[in-house]
Amino acid sequence: MADHLLERVKELLEEAREFSADSMEEVEHFRIRMLGKKGELSGLFAEFKNVAPELRKDYGQFLNDLKNKATEKVEELRSKFENESSRSGSGEDYTRTALPFESGSRHPISLMKNRVIEIFNRIGFTLSEGPEIEDDWHNFTALNLPEEHPARDMQDTFFVHKDPDHMLRTHTSSVQVRYMEQNQPPIRIISPGRVFRNEAVSARSNCIFHQVEGLYIDKNVSFADLRQTIMYFANEFFGEGTRIRFRPSYFPFTEPSAEVDVYWGLENEVDYRMTKGTGWLEIMGCGMVDPNVLRNCGIDPEIYSGYAFGMGIERMTLNRYQIPDIRYFFENDVRFLEQFGPAV
Ligand code: PHE
Repeated sequence: MADHLLERVKELLEEAREFSADSMEEVEHFRIRMLGKKGELSGLFAEFKNVAPELRKDYGQFLNDLKNKATEKVEELRSKFENESSRSGSGEDYTRTALPFESGSRHPISLMKNRVIEIFNRIGFTLSEGPEIEDDWHNFTALNLPEEHPARDMQDTFFVHKDPDHMLRTHTSSVQVRYMEQNQPPIRIISPGRVFRNEAVSARSNCIFHQVEGLYIDKNVSFADLRQTIMYFANEFFGEGTRIRFRPSYFPFTEPSAEVDVYWGLENEVDYRMTKGTGWLEIMGCGMVDPNVLRNCGIDPEIYSGYAFGMGIERMTLNRYQIPDIRYFFENDVRFLEQFGPAV
């Protein structure tokens, strides 16, 4: 009997299962051969009556399987080639997972600097900036550091082209001189910026760093005002209840001068290391502006007095985040930088 028909259906079913194509034409070819009007399937359906009755059930089933399989295959391959052609059309694969989006972050020095500026802004200090290449007058002489003054050695200087009159500023006090030359009191300014010192580079000091300095000049300004302002700053910056102390010190441009420490604590090994075993951390230099400086800048010291202070931003940031090496700030390694909060 016609069980060769059944064999034929099984063969075709196997073929449909295994069929794959390299192009849309091949798929179309396959469709016509299998499912077309004069294709294998319609031919085999027409043979139904020639199949022995006891095989018809199987035969019908296999024919259906073949029809389903062939239809499924055609659809699957068609959609594969359609996708490919739409992709090659626009050059994009819209189904692909998006690449991770990396957002930038603010440099820790900028974060700290902005925080300091913001605190002083709140009590009326405005921003003032000046050039990074300075002349001798603004960086030294006007600040009561005449030529040959031994205190010039406190700030080893980078000169420009070996010209003793031009240098990279060693502090932003030079900005204050420029401001006083142009403005009469009351003066309340804060001057942030990059400064440069020809120092040996180590984990705790670099030849380039950032300062924020402040200047307040008016009638009857006293050391008590300075103390109060610094106390306000320390409480805002380090937290309510922060203890500070003033240690007598020396700067050529202030008299009297002091260095300010905040109480950091002495509870663990890190505290011990950071405060060199004292529990206190030095944060800035300050003092009452020397009358010579006022005079040099055209302000009458008989009428006006004022205070100045200056702090190193790197030092504050090292302490704030407990960073072990100052050189990280200038290496621009994103693995370091991305730890400091997103850019706002
Ligand atoms: N200009 C000093 C420095 O760079 C800091 C300072 C500023 C000290 C103002 C006293 C008053 O070290």
